[in-house]
Amino acid sequence: MQRSKIAGIGYYVPKNVFTNEDLKKYMDTSDEWIQERTGIKERHYADRTGETTTTMGVEAAKIAIERAGITPQEIDFIIFATLSPDYYFPGCGVLLQRALKMKEIGALDVRNQCSGFLYALSVADQFIKTGMYKNILVVGSEKHSFGLDFSTRGRNISVIFGDGAGAVVLQPTNALASSGKEQGILSTHLHSDGESAEILAMYNPGTHANHWQPEPFATFDKAEIGQMFMSHAMIDYAQNFPNMDGPAVFKKAIIKMPEVVEEALLANGLTTANIDLLIPHQANLRIAQFVQRKLNLRDDQVYNNIQKYGNTTAASIPIALCEAWEEGKIKEGDVVCLTAFGSGFTWAGAIIRW
Ligand code: ACO
Repeated sequence: MQRSKIAGIGYYVPKNVFTNEDLKKYMDTSDEWIQERTGIKERHYADRTGETTTTMGVEAAKIAIERAGITPQEIDFIIFATLSPDYYFPGCGVLLQRALKMKEIGALDVRNQCSGFLYALSVADQFIKTGMYKNILVVGSEKHSFGLDFSTRGRNISVIFGDGAGAVVLQPTNALASSGKEQGILSTHLHSDGESAEILAMYNPGTHANHWQPEPFATFDKAEIGQMFMSHAMIDYAQNFPNMDGPAVFKKAIIKMPEVVEEALLANGLTTANIDLLIPHQANLRIAQFVQRKLNLRDDQVYNNIQKYGNTTAASIPIALCEAWEEGKIKEGDVVCLTAFGSGFTWAGAIIRW
């Protein structure tokens, strides 16, 4: 059967670096607290006006397309994953299509937060397998810095996230690795559990009408009819920022990420001993270390770069995958395992033989 392979990969991070020390100018925090709880030392923030989620995605895409040996005009489908789009609508896919002067191809936006890239990769993989498309561009990009609360009130969230983008070009393959085994994406595995959707979420702008919220938010519908989508009160009560119950996210992530890795290995008749490199979504170094311990993996079997970039949500896996590949840590025939967990909750896994 025809499979899909990563024919080109690229990433882009903005040039502005913010260390933990820099964040102390805005909030009551410390390098020690951030490193101990998250492993993060620094992150990159996009230019306030010059860069957007789409422009960063475009930079990553240009590299991936060039490395695939094609031009933007040969791409026949775009899938763009982000939770921080340039506009509420339309999505970033069409903005990228315009920026790269692509043909009038389909452009799909994926809203699956931290597992967005793996959901996008899975959709692309199916389109390649059915023969529908030959060159699919998959992008994960985030400009978190525009939407975070940088006061002490928001410090449990704002210190974690960074900006950046990663992209891959998927193409069909029937090739075998030198080991004689099939190359390309071997399988993808997608999951969700909406029971805890609100504990890692940005509620506004939205159509929820505050029906599940306590006073005073529950009364907004009467007071501001017609302005529910975004109101002054939402801003006054800081309801325009993301919310996160960190410990609850942590507990679920360290169960579901290893679980989906085991599921993916089993589906391919592999074991953890066969993993050459695991790239976990860069949520938090402590989560990645738990996942590593649970799967009994050696240090050289796991790649982490959250120390430099923070959590870049949909961009974290393609950035880490690209950086690991550029550093020579992924070679032909290697079994690369990807796993992600995030808001929704949604989680996903993928196994690739490079
Ligand atoms: N600097 C200093 N102090 C802080 C900061 C900060 N940036 N943030 C919170 N604190 C304080 C709190 O106010 C609290 O103080 P108190 O005890 O006086 O009330 C104290 O630190 C402990 O707060 P907790 O929220 O209980 O801290 P916790 O030990 O749980 O660590 C963290 C918080 C790092 C978010 C942790 O829960 C975690 O890693 N959760 C996983 C969530 C995650 O990784 N999310 C990423 C996005 S989702 C994803 O990608 C899967």
